[in-house]
Amino acid sequence: MNDHGRERGWWFALGAGLAALVVGLIIWLCLRTDRRTIQRLFWKPVYDRLARLYDSVDWLTGGTTHRLRRPALRYLPAEGGRVLEVGFGTGKLHVEMAKRYHVAGVDLAPGMAYVTRRRLTRQGLRSALAIGNACALPWPTGLFDAVVSTFVFSALPDADAAMDEMVRVVRPGGRVIIVDAGEASNGNRIAHLLAKTWTALGDYMRDEVPLMEARGLEVEREEYGPWGCVHIVVGTR
Ligand SMILES: C[S@@+](CC[C@H](N)C(=O)[O-])C[C@H]1O[C@@H](n2cnc3c(N)ncnc32)[C@H](O)[C@@H]1O
Repeated sequence: MNDHGRERGWWFALGAGLAALVVGLIIWLCLRTDRRTIQRLFWKPVYDRLARLYDSVDWLTGGTTHRLRRPALRYLPAEGGRVLEVGFGTGKLHVEMAKRYHVAGVDLAPGMAYVTRRRLTRQGLRSALAIGNACALPWPTGLFDAVVSTFVFSALPDADAAMDEMVRVVRPGGRVIIVDAGEASNGNRIAHLLAKTWTALGDYMRDEVPLMEARGLEVEREEYGPWGCVHIVVGTR
């Protein structure tokens, strides 16, 4: 190896070492901080300021994350109706729904709302988007035929308040549809390790079934995705 190659090798090693140090530091900090604080001080600014990078997760996983969201669409009415998306993120699922339904959405991060609005506008689609909290939805009781939320519920410290709101805004006979990561009931070890990692990073690995049943919904649950670490829970009011 010539001098130039050796120098590049050193820079690469230095970069990799620094990256490992930063990741290690983040994990160490997370393990010493309660989840509510991690959500507020880490994830909230990340979702807001790095919204434009969020889609690279889809790109890096070869579209897998989007494929994991899409089963939610199977439980929506065949055509027409009002659908609310809670935590729409960068709006990939939202634009698909906006082609078939009257849609509305709420997300805590203005950065995410910016990306979703731009995505809708480019495709000539419309939605009533709001910046707000899943625990205080700015819509009247019973307005929607369905409420959809993908990979959001695990980020919410107050699950009861969020579920109360999602159930409140759906009409009798309508559905609350939640897709999220969690423990796999097949006891898969990789799924368990992933769930532990998400928990260390501030997420809440929940089973939404008892939360829905406690509010009188009729519930179905299915696990899928790699090692069964993703689930969909559908409650009919
Ligand atoms: C992991 S992203 C998921 C985004 C998208 N639904 C998806 O499937 O990729 C979580 C999203 O939930 C939003 N979020 C987090 N807490 C929220 C809250 N309390 N109310 C509304 N949105 C929230 C974040 O801003 C972010 O856009």
